[in-house]
Amino acid sequence: MEHNHTLTVELGDRSYPIFIGSGLLSQPELLCRYVKGGTALIVSNTTIAPLYIEQIKTNLDSQNIQHDCVILEDGEQFKTLEAVQTIITTLLEKKHNRQTTLIALGGGVVGDITGFAASVYQRGVNFIQIPTTTLSQVDSSVGGKTGVNHILGKNMIGAFHQPQCVIADISTLSTLPNREFSAGLAEIIKYGLIHDAKFFKWLEQNISKLMARDSDIIAQAILVSCQTKANIVSIDERESGIRAILNLGHTFGHAIEATMGYGNWLHGEAVAAGMVMAVDLSCRQQWIDNSLKQRTIDLLKNANLPVTSPTNMTVDQYMSAMSIDKKVINGTIQFILLKGLGEAIVTSDYNPDFLKATLTNS
Ligand code: NAD
Ligand code: GLY
Repeated sequence: MEHNHTLTVELGDRSYPIFIGSGLLSQPELLCRYVKGGTALIVSNTTIAPLYIEQIKTNLDSQNIQHDCVILEDGEQFKTLEAVQTIITTLLEKKHNRQTTLIALGGGVVGDITGFAASVYQRGVNFIQIPTTTLSQVDSSVGGKTGVNHILGKNMIGAFHQPQCVIADISTLSTLPNREFSAGLAEIIKYGLIHDAKFFKWLEQNISKLMARDSDIIAQAILVSCQTKANIVSIDERESGIRAILNLGHTFGHAIEATMGYGNWLHGEAVAAGMVMAVDLSCRQQWIDNSLKQRTIDLLKNANLPVTSPTNMTVDQYMSAMSIDKKVINGTIQFILLKGLGEAIVTSDYNPDFLKATLTNS
């Protein structure tokens, strides 16, 4: 398969390209074309910067773009307002004006923080996503959701702010630890479950090659995932409708992440367990049959992902964390559930006894 592709997130005059391919970081013009004002701030973390930041600096130097850097601590527990404050302090100290561009070099944590900082700095400046994890290449770098966590709730502080472009260099995944690689597969499997039965079957057939990191199969999985996300975001940028289906498993998953302590369960792992819970609830509603639940569990297990929720979490803990989910309307929690493979719905029309049974796995 040809490894270089360009997709577009169609949003009128805010449309932007997603470049997917191998070796993209060593193409300076790809990045520099999108740095309009002659200055940039690269934001990365202590793990990713030693691997890839020099290449980004070299690219900017080659076009005489003046640049500064912020290197954040690594981890979901540092996805906080303090990190945003650190970025803004550097921007001010180094006298970056409204024409500057922020460059997020890293996974979803760096991307979400940087995008949010870009959305508020001087009421909004440009930013570029250079995602370096499976998860960020298929999900978080696309679609303009940015933000940070609050101790009481995941992603509770944020803004919609679209990047100028996304540069997903698949070669960067070569340094990604296996556990992180698998976490990203949860969001890839999500696209099959919510929207694309054919892709789900393709994943079932190709999961061993994906786990063996076959580059053609990875490229194909990233491409299909980004295309699905780009299409959905183009239709419903601000999640007034269909975009919510991208949150399959996330209401349960966010509750797990916040209750277990940010960083203990990886986001993708919590989403995997959360998707099994969503599929389980859909089964109890008799909207799907057990065979789909089993196929979901098998695929997630083959991707080395957890398929059961933490044994020590109580119903009260779930309900308390989920009661501040962004999809709560008039005090009722809405879930993304399945009516079939590739058919997700957003609904508050479920039997509360079934929900309790799902939460207690009984
Ligand atoms: P992450 O950003 O924490 O990255 C995972 C780990 O891999 C980190 O330790 C990181 O330093 C390291 N890493 C990153 N790239 C590497 C590389 N190429 N080589 C070696 N190590 C590397 O986690 P993630 O899974 O990328 O993102 C999870 C975050 O994304 C969560 O905060 C979640 O809420 C958010 N998210 C946002 C959206 C959105 O639409 N904005 C969507 C999904 C998830
Ligand atoms: N990850 C959910 C969304 O981008 O809408």
